[in-house]
Amino acid sequence: MSAALLEVDGLRMHFFTRAGVVKAVDDVSFEVARGEVLGLVGESGSGKSITGYSIMGLVDPPGRVVAGNILFDGVHLTALPAEDMRHFRGNRVAMIFQDPMMSLNPVLRIDTQMVEAILAHENVSRSAALERAREALTRVGIPSAAERLRGYPHQFSGGMRQRVAIARALITRPQVLLMDEPFGALDEITREHMNQELLRIWEATGTTILFVTHSSPEAVFLSDRVLVLGARPGRVKLDLPVRLPRPRDPAVKETVEFARHTADLRRALAGESRPE
Ligand SMILES: Nc1ncnc2c1ncn2[C@@H]1O[C@H](COP(=O)(O)OP(=O)(O)OP(=O)(O)O)[C@@H](O)[C@H]1O
Ligand SMILES: [Mg+2]
Repeated sequence: MSAALLEVDGLRMHFFTRAGVVKAVDDVSFEVARGEVLGLVGESGSGKSITGYSIMGLVDPPGRVVAGNILFDGVHLTALPAEDMRHFRGNRVAMIFQDPMMSLNPVLRIDTQMVEAILAHENVSRSAALERAREALTRVGIPSAAERLRGYPHQFSGGMRQRVAIARALITRPQVLLMDEPFGALDEITREHMNQELLRIWEATGTTILFVTHSSPEAVFLSDRVLVLGARPGRVKLDLPVRLPRPRDPAVKETVEFARHTADLRRALAGESRPE
């Protein structure tokens, strides 16, 4: 058996629209080793989100996985019955969506959503779960967390909502975390803070992470390896091992290696964006 925790092998995911077939993902293969952080970059429309949805089994018509296998710990996800797939989504893997409102329920208070997520996985008291929820919100930089917990998603700014979604995903302690451009809505200082926080969580838990970002420096800073997806059709264009030491310190951004990796990614991305 392979050492990879997650394997995507020859994935093709197409949309059968009235205007024709959109090959959102067309023969994408990669492996994510246990405890690895794999960065995923690529121009808009190159299939990054659809790759994440395919792993989660969240592809709806007119979209369909037309070929390929997705394996988690050697188990074929593509062949799992719907009930087992729901269990996998609830327990083994969590996805933080590009749009935080897709990760949160708009009609439930934040405390309800977070406490229910904990109670669905663990046998702890409601008050212990509430305390964990408060700590998790504080850790992602939300002030007056006890008070904010009683709010609804629409009462938060976009960036704060994304941080709540991240806190909610992390309290369930998933084995694999799929993060789809999670820090895109954050200001630069908060984004920096969240990068550090994610590294700290990764070092403490060894969670396997697939991290989508539009920022080459961010991909290099966080990842052990970065894949570049290219559009027309969605395929892996570059598989770049990141040779930087762990634990990763912000000072690494000043090094020649960091600049070289970032330049390699930018070159691969620029090669993609030729006008039609
Ligand atoms: N429901 C849909 N129907 C038809 N085509 C779709 C649908 N959803 C996505 N696509 C197409 O699939 C392709 C890949 O989309 P995807 O959302 O994965 O891109 P992305 O790499 O995540 O882009 P971005 O960086 O903008 O988030 C795009 O060409 C998109 O237009
Ligand atoms: Mg996307």
